Amino acid sequence: MDRLAILSMLETAMGECSRIQLTEGVSVLEHSLWCAYQAWNEKCASSMVVAAMFHDIGHYICAGDPELTDFYKDKEHASLGAAWLSRWFPESVCIPIAMHIEAKRYLATTDIIYRHNLGHGSRQSLEHQGGLMNDDELLAFRTSRYADSSIKLRRFDDATFVKGAIPSYKWYETIIISILR
Ligand SMILES: [Fe+2]
Ligand SMILES: [Fe+2]
Repeated sequence: MDRLAILSMLETAMGECSRIQLTEGVSVLEHSLWCAYQAWNEKCASSMVVAAMFHDIGHYICAGDPELTDFYKDKEHASLGAAWLSRWFPESVCIPIAMHIEAKRYLATTDIIYRHNLGHGSRQSLEHQGGLMNDDELLAFRTSRYADSSIKLRRFDDATFVKGAIPSYKWYETIIISILR
């Protein structure tokens, strides 16, 4: 698939994300734009900006199957999204996306303030996502090469959405192209 076709497919997917609501009444598109903006604003590497933009694209994939339960979506959207994106993006984008649920479980286990500050929806989905980590899971997470970047992505993911003037999806396309494989 050529680059223009990939860009077009991604734009279509993100357009569809405007119709998928997250639990706090924010669409997946708004939430993704907010996450990408934070990464860009903090001068993160392009791979982090792109990971932030697409970290929840698994919800778009899940939306194609009306029989999928909320339990399945909460649990699997990270790995589904990362697998879908891995044809076009390097692991510096895809692995933090795949690990963004594990990063939440890790932070909820090791940081009591983080756990208490989780929003209602995020606290509920944590149960679907495996709850707190056991010692083996903590070790596996900590020793991953992408632990730090997945935690960073998670911090953007958890930041309260602020409605305001942030760039549109199109604005990020040069950054997205720069990181395509
Ligand atoms: Fe997510
Ligand atoms: Fe998210």
